Amino acid sequence: MLFLDSSDPKEIKDIFAWGVVAGVTTNPLILAREAGAVDLEQRIREVIGASRGPVSVELTSETEVAMMQEAHRYHTWAPSRVVIKVPFSEAGLRVTHALATQGIETNVTCVMSFNQAYLAALAGGTYVSIFSGRVRDMGYDVRPVIAQTRAQLDREKLASRIIVGSIRHLMDVNEALEQGAHVVTVTPPILRKMLHNPKTDETIREFNAAWESRAK
Ligand code: E4P
Repeated sequence: MLFLDSSDPKEIKDIFAWGVVAGVTTNPLILAREAGAVDLEQRIREVIGASRGPVSVELTSETEVAMMQEAHRYHTWAPSRVVIKVPFSEAGLRVTHALATQGIETNVTCVMSFNQAYLAALAGGTYVSIFSGRVRDMGYDVRPVIAQTRAQLDREKLASRIIVGSIRHLMDVNEALEQGAHVVTVTPPILRKMLHNPKTDETIREFNAAWESRAK
């Protein structure tokens, strides 16, 4: 399954019309780049209006009390659509667990290792986001992180779903799915790259040229 890693309502609306994405993930970096001067609530409401399925909105406060307040504020914007993205930490685990007991969906994010992913799942995270590109930036292979997490979720029948994000290349998408990711979240430029193959374009041109030059 694919989610879109974007906060641009125009891109989101356009790409949802392809019928291939099932949710949206945002983060403070994406929002700062794409919507820096815009009110967060207004922007997220636009994203919700342009999409279907879960929309992850990330907490930026750092204490447990402030994180809970922030989470409840985001949740009221669209209780059935907003997923609270909780940065991984000890406080983050407590927040994830507390929100899970209140029936509020979470996406534990910035996860770089199996150990963190397992803790996030045990705490009751609805989703666990493993950052492919950033793990590779450290010189590690992300594939065993994804595969071991998936195997453990299945063994213990934990309800968490793995999202693999921080996708830099098309091969990252293939590999994440192959290793057992339930969801890969991709940016619009990566998704547009998935469309293209020169042989497809050449074949279509050949077929259309043959049809145009047929004996009439
Ligand atoms: C996933 O949920 C994150 O928004 C994102 O994929 C992070 O990617 P980056 O490493 O490109 O910042």
